[in-house]
Amino acid sequence: MNLTVASKTILITGTSSGFGKLTTSLLLSRGHTVIAGLRGGAKRLRETFPEETEKYSSRLIALDLHMEQSSSLEGAKDLIEKKLNGKLDVLINNAGYGLFGTLEDLTPEQLRYQFEVNFFGPVFLTRALLPSLRAAKGRVLTLSSIAGLHAFPYYGSYNSSKFAVEAMFEALHYELKPMGVQVGLIEPGAFRTDFNVRSKMMAEGASNPQSPYASRSKSFQEKLKSLSFRQGNPIRVAKLIVNLCEKKKIPVRSLIGADAWAIHIASRMVPDSLRVRLKDAAFNQIFFK
Ligand SMILES: NC(=O)c1ccc[n+]([C@@H]2O[C@H](COP(=O)([O-])OP(=O)(O)OC[C@H]3O[C@@H](n4cnc5c(N)ncnc54)[C@H](OP(=O)(O)O)[C@@H]3O)[C@@H](O)[C@H]2O)c1
Repeated sequence: MNLTVASKTILITGTSSGFGKLTTSLLLSRGHTVIAGLRGGAKRLRETFPEETEKYSSRLIALDLHMEQSSSLEGAKDLIEKKLNGKLDVLINNAGYGLFGTLEDLTPEQLRYQFEVNFFGPVFLTRALLPSLRAAKGRVLTLSSIAGLHAFPYYGSYNSSKFAVEAMFEALHYELKPMGVQVGLIEPGAFRTDFNVRSKMMAEGASNPQSPYASRSKSFQEKLKSLSFRQGNPIRVAKLIVNLCEKKKIPVRSLIGADAWAIHIASRMVPDSLRVRLKDAAFNQIFFK
């Protein structure tokens, strides 16, 4: 543990795998107290972190958290009030999943659920915890994505949930600055977590041979799988999140990953009409050829 870093109380969602799991381990090793949100609570925490639950038992607290359930989000507030006297320095909104496919192949229920988990979940959790975060002059970090800044074909559901996250948390940045609360968004490119495996959902109609998009959907799914070898090491994202928890001043946006930077910079260098044409050509080449 680095003794120059003041120990903080940090709630992070989606700690069962990927960025959330790696970040939780790092935060504990650096002396912080972690409230680990995950579906399944204490039992799943022990299964996910067998060593940490032994080694850091006084600093690792399980929170059974389902992002789409408002009672579950309110439960987070109760736990912080009861177990930690309302003390919370950092909230990390990490839980989320990807839903891919065309608008016609998606059901309304699938699209709504995407927003419940990826948008309303973090927004209402943040809202519930703001009194504690204001009192601590704390910070809110939210996992967006490069897909929160740039739209891609078959990503409409995921894109729009993360675009909404971008807008809400940027607005919150301005609202909370006068209160001494800092708000940061993190925009990773593609990283090797469970995101493109277990957490990847497809539109219901994508596997229907009658769908007008059937052959393109098949090609999209196959190409998405074969691109996985290019994805970055998720420990980089975990280290960035820990750094944003500890450093004095944080930026509103933190892009991470060569792919995220390439897309972002290239998009800014050309006029919009050319940008759209180039993207169309690039995506046809990558996913549908
Ligand atoms: N990996 C990437 O390339 C990438 C890129 C950009 C942004 N992101 C974002 O980074 C965040 C973390 O993703 P990851 O890559 O670490 O993926 P991951 O390994 O699949 O982890 C996702 C986490 O979210 C949790 N979760 C999903 N739905 C939930 C719900 N309804 N209620 C509570 N928890 C739920 C999962 O819990 P369960 O185990 O219970 O399902 C899991 O712990 C997400 O917001 C994602 O959009 C990822």
